[in-house]
Amino acid sequence: MFGLFTPLTAFIAVTAATPLAIRDDHNNTMATSFKNVPLSADLKYVPCFQNYTCANLEVPLDYDHPDVGTTNIAFIRWNTPKQPAMGDIIFNPGGPGGSGVNFVLNPLELPMLIELLGDAYNIVGMDPRGVNNSGPNLECFAGTPAIRDYFDTELFDVDPRSEASLKKYYQQSGSFGTWCSRTLNDTVRYANTPATARDMLQYAEKLAESQGKPREEAQVNFYGASYGSALGTTFASLFPTRVGRFLIDAVLDVEDYYFGNWSQNLLQADAAVESFFELCASAGPTCALYTNGSTAASIQQRVDAVLQSLEDSPLAVTDPAFVQFPTAVTHADLRGLFMLATYNPPVYFATLALIVAQVESGNGTLLAFATQKGVMPKAECDGVSAEWTDVHPKLIIACNDNNKRWAVTEQSVMELFAFDRGLSKYFGEVWASVIVPQCRNLKFSPPENQVFNGELVLPGLEAMH
Ligand SMILES: *[C@@H]1O[C@H](CO)[C@@H](O)[C@H](O)[C@H]1NC(C)=O
Ligand SMILES: *[C@@H]1O[C@H](CO)[C@@H](O)[C@H](O)[C@H]1NC(C)=O
Ligand SMILES: *[C@@H]1O[C@H](CO)[C@@H](O)[C@H](O)[C@H]1NC(C)=O
Ligand SMILES: *[C@@H]1O[C@H](CO)[C@@H](O)[C@H](O)[C@H]1NC(C)=O
Ligand SMILES: *[C@@H]1O[C@H](CO)[C@@H](O)[C@H](O)[C@H]1NC(C)=O
Ligand SMILES: *[C@@H]1O[C@H](CO)[C@@H](O)[C@H](O)[C@H]1NC(C)=O
Ligand SMILES: *[C@@H]1O[C@H](CO)[C@@H](O)[C@H](O)[C@H]1NC(C)=O
Repeated sequence: MFGLFTPLTAFIAVTAATPLAIRDDHNNTMATSFKNVPLSADLKYVPCFQNYTCANLEVPLDYDHPDVGTTNIAFIRWNTPKQPAMGDIIFNPGGPGGSGVNFVLNPLELPMLIELLGDAYNIVGMDPRGVNNSGPNLECFAGTPAIRDYFDTELFDVDPRSEASLKKYYQQSGSFGTWCSRTLNDTVRYANTPATARDMLQYAEKLAESQGKPREEAQVNFYGASYGSALGTTFASLFPTRVGRFLIDAVLDVEDYYFGNWSQNLLQADAAVESFFELCASAGPTCALYTNGSTAASIQQRVDAVLQSLEDSPLAVTDPAFVQFPTAVTHADLRGLFMLATYNPPVYFATLALIVAQVESGNGTLLAFATQKGVMPKAECDGVSAEWTDVHPKLIIACNDNNKRWAVTEQSVMELFAFDRGLSKYFGEVWASVIVPQCRNLKFSPPENQVFNGELVLPGLEAMH
């Protein structure tokens, strides 16, 4: 699952992102926005974004009930120079809520995909239902992105070791559901993983038709990472005879995903953090936490002490070179950073060591900077928030998939925090705040034919259908 929290994703921006410059010309043979890609029930690709072709496929919200209406699904295609291609591979980067269009369009990500998948196939970035350029709209604060970003920052600023903070978080999560249920259109219920899997089949069939091949024989080629593995597994279990070339990566526990716990993701979390201690010890002085004679055990001891001291006394941060307003950083901020860093150790571990070493010496400035504490949420240099973020779509798609299988009560949420803390002492509690509590008051549920009916057998629970 990519792109976890609004505040933490800023860390990625600090260390990795390169803004993508898109030529904004008025060349009407070259679409530079999906708004200019014609909507069609057939797969009609047009030139877009300089090096690609794009399609806006019109699909039924409910394939069994066409009268319900339609929505649009956005596809961007990198066409291999080796034409004719052996086929199209649909890519999903994770989430839920991750934009496949954004990945394929990104000049840093596309070469990695080509290296992984080779150049015999075209690579297709798909925005699943409710994501970025595809309908229906899942933005609870449509038209007011700055308010949305402020809300998200405040919502996820929770101290999981404080009962009062957790209770407030539980209530505010519920108010999120009440709010979104009021502001969003009921078509939101059709944004779910089984429906997206069906859209992938539609893509393959429309592609076959456009090539004069029989649609009933069309197969889907797919590469999905993280949540994309849940999407791929869903597709394969719904349409087993339509699986072409399939690759699932960073595989998650699909039953745990549909059930709503998301706890199984934590099974090796602390082992990943422990590799940080070992790598730091073997790196020597290039690791900021290393001092003469450091061992993995001694570094771990110091990190544990740093987390404890932050829990006992958060650190004030006031340096105007790093923050826009005075703030304080907490143990929860550092735990969040540990979680994010384990997603990509080669990129984040060295910076993480520097941040922890600073905190150890009583300086929380870099921790504030990395977590964007004391900074206007998502405000870019010009103070404008991004029109679309994945935060609410992620929640709503996951909650539709969960379909109230998880009974969200104050007690069950408290139990989940405790349970996840037991699975990972470093960031289990931070992980627990990601999804489940927000599902409580969302009134949407998918139609019966879009509920995943695979066998869901969880330890200690009866099979559900
Ligand atoms: C529009 O873009 C296409 C493809 O890059 C190019 O061949 C064409 O000359 C452009 N037309 C104008 C009017 O800029
Ligand atoms: C298109 O491809 C060219 C050559 O590979 C590259 O220099 C350029 O940055 C690409 N443009 C976009 C918008 O990705
Ligand atoms: C959404 O898609 C556009 C291209 O249409 C892309 O530029 C943008 O980065 C994407 N947004 C996200 C958050 O993925
Ligand atoms: C809900 O959204 C659909 C599709 O965007 C639109 O046609 C319909 O009018 C909307 N309904 C309401 C009540 O806004
Ligand atoms: C580390 O140990 C080496 C050799 O024992 C010594 O030369 C060096 O000054 C020490 N460095 C620090 C920072 O204590
Ligand atoms: C705290 O860290 C910041 C960022 O690295 C640095 O600029 C500042 O000088 C440090 N403050 C002290 C008192 O060392
Ligand atoms: C889900 O979380 C609860 C704690 O709320 C725990 O008792 C249960 O074992 C978990 N189930 C799985 C499969 O992780």
